[in-house]
Amino acid sequence: MKVNFIDILRYENNFLETVTAKTAELLKNGHFVGGPIVGQFEAAIKDYTKTAFALGCANGTDAIQLALRAAGVEKNDKVLLPDMTFWATFESIVNVGAIPCTIDVSKETLHLTLASVKEGVEKFKPKALLLVHLYGWACPETMEIRKYCHENNVILVEDCAQAIGVKINGEDILTNALVATTSYYPAKVLGASGDAGGIFTTDQKIAETTKILLNHGRTGHYDHGMIGWNSRLGAYEANFLVESLKYLDARLESRRHVCNEYRAKIKNPALNFLKPSDDVVENGYLSVALMTPETRPAFIEYLKKNEIGYGTVYPGAMSAQPGATAHIGGKISHGHAEWIAKSIINLPCFAYMKQEEIDYVIETVNNFKA
Ligand SMILES: Cc1ncc(COP(=O)(O)O)c(C=O)c1O
Repeated sequence: MKVNFIDILRYENNFLETVTAKTAELLKNGHFVGGPIVGQFEAAIKDYTKTAFALGCANGTDAIQLALRAAGVEKNDKVLLPDMTFWATFESIVNVGAIPCTIDVSKETLHLTLASVKEGVEKFKPKALLLVHLYGWACPETMEIRKYCHENNVILVEDCAQAIGVKINGEDILTNALVATTSYYPAKVLGASGDAGGIFTTDQKIAETTKILLNHGRTGHYDHGMIGWNSRLGAYEANFLVESLKYLDARLESRRHVCNEYRAKIKNPALNFLKPSDDVVENGYLSVALMTPETRPAFIEYLKKNEIGYGTVYPGAMSAQPGATAHIGGKISHGHAEWIAKSIINLPCFAYMKQEEIDYVIETVNNFKA
């Protein structure tokens, strides 16, 4: 048997037919960019996440840049971010003219901690923190970090590109974030058929500024009150997302099942399966296990031999990327991000993975001898 790391083509019955028919309607009516379907998606995702304001944009990287700008991050402001994340977070800070400062993550939770955020704030005196929630989890101390940032005038922007559908204490992660962003890239938990992204906020002013920035700083058709850019959400993407959102809960359940099966049934001591903190309900974006830098290479060869796809999310620390050198304003490093990068392994995980595929992965991994 062959099991891919991810298969995003496992759609529900009639899903593609419905999307295609509705896309044809949009074409016939000349709705290419924006239009009622974008408003329809924004209303539906606002309702699902119970946020005060939800806006669509062109991609998840733009969403971070829009959120940073709209929340008040300006040229030469320092912005903290975790050293273990996707490069888009580092890049976004630089692209808005600000200065990224990386903080190491915990070796146990793979995320920032309140203590590490405090250390970063005291050391770098940043204007903002870009908190990243990875693997379909939430950073374990999100509530404490939100409170600390609020009390210490640190603008908190949360990157939820991997966290759609995640719950903290029974509440959607997006509901009460000052400003959070997501990516609807096709391989994400809620994916479009191309690039798309979203911004969520509880703050009316941030929502209004974001709306202006993502449409050329427009305050009227030919009135431009700010320097923005074109980051509008396309109508076809919005249409695909409206239909996908109808199945989001079913897809989440299917993904969570895969993660739980691995945790319950893989007994190989070479792999230590992690889970989010007890107050968090994951969305099943990734399955996460830690090995060691010594055991992982042979395991990867073994997976390849047995035709099982895998991920190593992410294979390097941000501060070590060649592109970081010219821009980084400082770092707090204990070598954790580098260690995680060499030790992490992600097994196949996607919506509607078949039980026989899950069983094959479990049996094969259990038979691996380190
Ligand atoms: C954590 C994180 N932030 C930001 C992004 C950027 O999103 P996009 O690819 O839609 O620009 C991604 C997606 O790849 C991501 O995983």
